[in-house]
Amino acid sequence: MCGIVGYIGDKQAAEFLLDGLSKLEYRGYDSAGIAVYDGAKIRVEKSVGRLAALRDKIGSNMPKGTLGIGHTRWATHGRPSDRNAHPHTDCSGDFVIVHNGIIENYLALKEDLIEKGHDFKSETDTEVVAHLLEEVYNGDFVSSIREVLRRIEGSYSLVFMSRKHPDMLVCTKQDNPLVIGIGEGENFIASDIPAIISRTRRTYILNDGELAVVKKDSIQITNREGEAVTKKVFEVNWNAEAAEKGGYEHFMLKEIHEQPKAVRDTMSQRIAKDGKRIVMDELKWDADYLNSFNKIYIVACGTAYHAGLVGKFYIEKMARVLVEVDVASEFRYRNPIVDENTLLIVVSQSGETSDTLAALKESKRLGAKTLAITNVVGSSIAREADQVLYTWAGPEIAVASTKAYTTQLILFFMLSLYMAQIRGTQSPERVEALISRLKEIPAQVSETLSDVEPIKTFAKQYGFNEDVFYIGRALDYEVALEGALKLKEVSYIHAEAYAAGELKHGTLALIIEGVPVIALATQKSVYEKTLSNIKEVKARDAVVIGLAAAGDTELSKYVDHVITVPQTDELLIPLLTVVPLQLLAYYAAITRGCDVDKPRNLAKSVTVE
Ligand code: G6P
Repeated sequence: MCGIVGYIGDKQAAEFLLDGLSKLEYRGYDSAGIAVYDGAKIRVEKSVGRLAALRDKIGSNMPKGTLGIGHTRWATHGRPSDRNAHPHTDCSGDFVIVHNGIIENYLALKEDLIEKGHDFKSETDTEVVAHLLEEVYNGDFVSSIREVLRRIEGSYSLVFMSRKHPDMLVCTKQDNPLVIGIGEGENFIASDIPAIISRTRRTYILNDGELAVVKKDSIQITNREGEAVTKKVFEVNWNAEAAEKGGYEHFMLKEIHEQPKAVRDTMSQRIAKDGKRIVMDELKWDADYLNSFNKIYIVACGTAYHAGLVGKFYIEKMARVLVEVDVASEFRYRNPIVDENTLLIVVSQSGETSDTLAALKESKRLGAKTLAITNVVGSSIAREADQVLYTWAGPEIAVASTKAYTTQLILFFMLSLYMAQIRGTQSPERVEALISRLKEIPAQVSETLSDVEPIKTFAKQYGFNEDVFYIGRALDYEVALEGALKLKEVSYIHAEAYAAGELKHGTLALIIEGVPVIALATQKSVYEKTLSNIKEVKARDAVVIGLAAAGDTELSKYVDHVITVPQTDELLIPLLTVVPLQLLAYYAAITRGCDVDKPRNLAKSVTVE
């Protein structure tokens, strides 16, 4: 998983390349490199470490030239090092490439190329592509590239540059994202829109198998067969500001604070004007179909999986359909029972997570109808699924997902109401009442965000503990899982979430004096039982921070501190309780001096298995 960029035009390429890569570091940041053609030869500069290390290495000696490509890497084949950093070249240095993905048959190709005399400099799978191009080169850059594509297997987005063809860049993709930014007398290539948004809003989003010849004044796109493809220009409707930190110290904090707007945007077009019904015009299935399936699978990874757990709760409760939730990497290898009566819902912020995409493809093959919940228009998952519901969260840059989670919850809640309308499982009065509570959520998220001081204090007080436990029952448990994940991801504190009733079956042994326990107690039907579990941990001298709905006068009697969130229907309260947990994770990471937006070993978008 990596970020790639390309530039062709009249301006100095290196400036765009370095700037564009800085917007793509969320895709990987263990090494970086650029290659620029100076009119005679191609200069390649690479460095292990963050982009800043590459900038330091280059210093004031910027590569000169108006044609170039760049890469920010997250290692898969070959550890992070200068040698393994992209761009990679062939033996002659005439061909230079950047790659995001995995060339699955690289070992066989490499052996063959070594036998033919090629000299490999790195341990990467990618380098075979450059040597293979050198091997098959027939004088025609594009047809030679097509020959390379016929021989490689795997997933990729690739940009090719050649000293022999300095009037063009060639790019293509398979299962990894690639966009082309359309400029005036210049054009841009990137893995994702934030890299180009400061230069242009007009883009082409490439589909699998498409190949683009990008020149200074033209972009020609063809399909796998070489036939011309007419593509619609995709106008990006968010601005460069949205992809920047907007005054916040970190993207994570900015994105936490964007949640009121993100949830409002996600719900706004989907509530009927009279406020009585959910409308989902984007779903092209008729009511008969939505009434017909007998099982739903929700499949996702990471935070999106946690959103799926809440989704199951909503759909089962409101629409009375059996729902199973699974992590994508498990689902696809256990021969799941999926047929034409199954609805598969995949959830993915990026729309590019490899395991989720593979689960989607496999379920389609088995006959399931598929629905994607994603944040990225035109992403691989959005294009592969039969139907798409977009979260309108705007770009999420921080590795730790926040606004994607809350907007995914909003969509699951609305989908469950929509299904309930169709299936007649909830009265119109109940649906209307829930919609009116739903409409209050953006303002209530804002209110929750305004009460940050106590959370900062807890983060300072407990930020150096080695272990933190999260407990809750029912929906509180699902949110606890997400709270613990957030803390782990950004602060590296060992954090575990448990269904409160499970504690006594093992985990209670870990509760000793002074261990912080965050106890969520918002679900009325299990409130008393949660209180009993809180007493169990208090009896072992844990420090308990309780999370309750405003107006709760009971909880403070049993815990050390209480955080409250505004009152709402208990189905909707996860949208509020998750907010202090996100903030706690953020401020704990700050207390410990962690690199919040780029946690060690993690990347935003996992496009490899
Ligand atoms: C990575 C990210 C997580 C994210 C997960 C799934 O692990 O660090 O924040 O939840 O991938 O990503 P997706 O884009 O499919 O939601």
